[in-house]
Amino acid sequence: MLPIFNPRQTILVTCREKIADKFTGREHIKDNIITLDWHMPVSFQPFLYAIAIGKKRFSHNLIKESMVFVVNFMPYHLEEEVLDCGRHSGAHMDKFEKTGLAKEEADRIDCPRIRQALAILECEIINSIDAGDHTVFISKVVHSEEKEKGKRLFHTEGDEFTTTKE
Ligand SMILES: Cc1cc2nc3c(=O)[nH]c(=O)nc-3n(C[C@H](O)[C@H](O)[C@H](O)COP(=O)(O)O)c2cc1C
Repeated sequence: MLPIFNPRQTILVTCREKIADKFTGREHIKDNIITLDWHMPVSFQPFLYAIAIGKKRFSHNLIKESMVFVVNFMPYHLEEEVLDCGRHSGAHMDKFEKTGLAKEEADRIDCPRIRQALAILECEIINSIDAGDHTVFISKVVHSEEKEKGKRLFHTEGDEFTTTKE
């Protein structure tokens, strides 16, 4: 299907999986990054934000289990890194290591976020909607920061992106 609804702002969503080892009981942590075009604010009061994630994505179960995620609004100049996170699955690799995007801890939730992001939303899921081959996760924004102004990244088609004038 042609993306007639593009350009859309492309974001990175960060998430975390925690699994206790069956034998030692030691906690194993796996952090991941997924690229998304499908996301939007859905309420001012309370401040709610929604993301749509394909049910087959590795990140889908991580987010469903942890019930938290961070929306990272990325600068235009990091388009290659953003594309990389949307072309490979975190099931078999560490996308932080692969892309060189710097990991930092979220302020209010147990989740990683990206240092190079221009702005972030830390989100706790309050509801989810089965939407065909995607799940729409509706979340309460528990912390938000605009770290700096800068040109945002917008997806046009395939590997192509554009940005705004300012
Ligand atoms: C520009 C771009 C936008 C994307 N938008 C979405 C999206 O909105 N929802 C989604 O489920 N996948 C989207 N994807 C696909 C996922 O990012 C991709 O399948 C990714 O490899 C999944 O990573 P994971 O397996 O580690 O979860 C997009 C990919 C790209 C390149």
